[in-house]
Amino acid sequence: MGFPTHRLRRLRRTEALRWMVQETCVRLENLVMPLFVRPGENLSRPIAPMPGQMQFSIDLLVEQCQELEALGIPGILLFGIPEEKDSTGASASDKNGIVQRAVRAIKDKCQRLLVITDVCLCEYTDHGHCGLLREVRGQMEVDNDRTLKRLAEIAVSHADAGADLVAPSDMMDGRVAAIRNALDKHDFEYVPIMSYAAKFASSFYGPFREAAESPPAFGDRKSYQQSCRNADEAMREIALDVEEGADIVMIKPALAYLDIVYRASQRFDLPIACYSVSGEYAMLKAAAQNGWLNEPGTVMEALIGMKRAGARIIITYFAKDVAEWIRAERIGVAPDGLPPGKAPETE
Ligand code: PBG
Repeated sequence: MGFPTHRLRRLRRTEALRWMVQETCVRLENLVMPLFVRPGENLSRPIAPMPGQMQFSIDLLVEQCQELEALGIPGILLFGIPEEKDSTGASASDKNGIVQRAVRAIKDKCQRLLVITDVCLCEYTDHGHCGLLREVRGQMEVDNDRTLKRLAEIAVSHADAGADLVAPSDMMDGRVAAIRNALDKHDFEYVPIMSYAAKFASSFYGPFREAAESPPAFGDRKSYQQSCRNADEAMREIALDVEEGADIVMIKPALAYLDIVYRASQRFDLPIACYSVSGEYAMLKAAAQNGWLNEPGTVMEALIGMKRAGARIIITYFAKDVAEWIRAERIGVAPDGLPPGKAPETE
């Protein structure tokens, strides 16, 4: 039985009806804001390919975090740009390293805000790779197994500084188990691991490498990050991280990988996160700045797509903007927080 008995337009006729029957809703509670911290004082250095995003010194970073907390953003994902880089990324696990100091300063002022730290070596190594290097038959390669110990040390040092969750982004095999073990041994058995479980070697990371000052000095990351062509392999990556004890699994990037998010959400019963990366931010921002796209409309549509695909947590550089739009009632994001009628400014 079809038309005229069934008319799908019946439920689309008023704002209130549309709100009432909506299937997907992006809420502030779902969003995590990435932030970059660098040495110095009173510094907010714009990141050119990511208009609106900055590298902050610790003092201004804490102010940023206070604003985010007040806006209702539940968490941040923290990346550090260290003073010094060397072959083993020594400063990454230093008790007084940039991230460790930043975490202590944030936790001192913002008790509610979840501080998630990115655990990786690429910002701290002079070669810019996510692991330690070794030479095999005249060729430099990333030494998986020796890297595990370093990653575990970094994770423990973050937890020790007060990080609420740790997020390994290196894509070494076995790192989740290594980090879980080390955390447990140091009495951090309740610090969750959000693993970058399926992280693809992506051109969409371009702007980030400028933001984190971490491009590889030679070669690329294709020997550890996944090929964008392989979805079954992504399921194996996620399954292994789950087995090794990941509490949340992340897929990254987001927009070009929503099929992976969807498959993961159908198959695994732990929270799925996706990371809408720097290049995704850059492309929407650039088009909006040119007046080619409506920013709140396109940003919300992209985030809703991620949520609809099955991501419960979305890491996005737009998190603060979204919170401000909600406050200014420019978009209808959370119906609980917003009466119908105030809603979508989409075109
Ligand atoms: C480092 C790391 C990267 C991102 C997050 N952690 C860059 C990379 O792997 O090259 C990318 C984030 C973004 O593009 O927003 N391991």
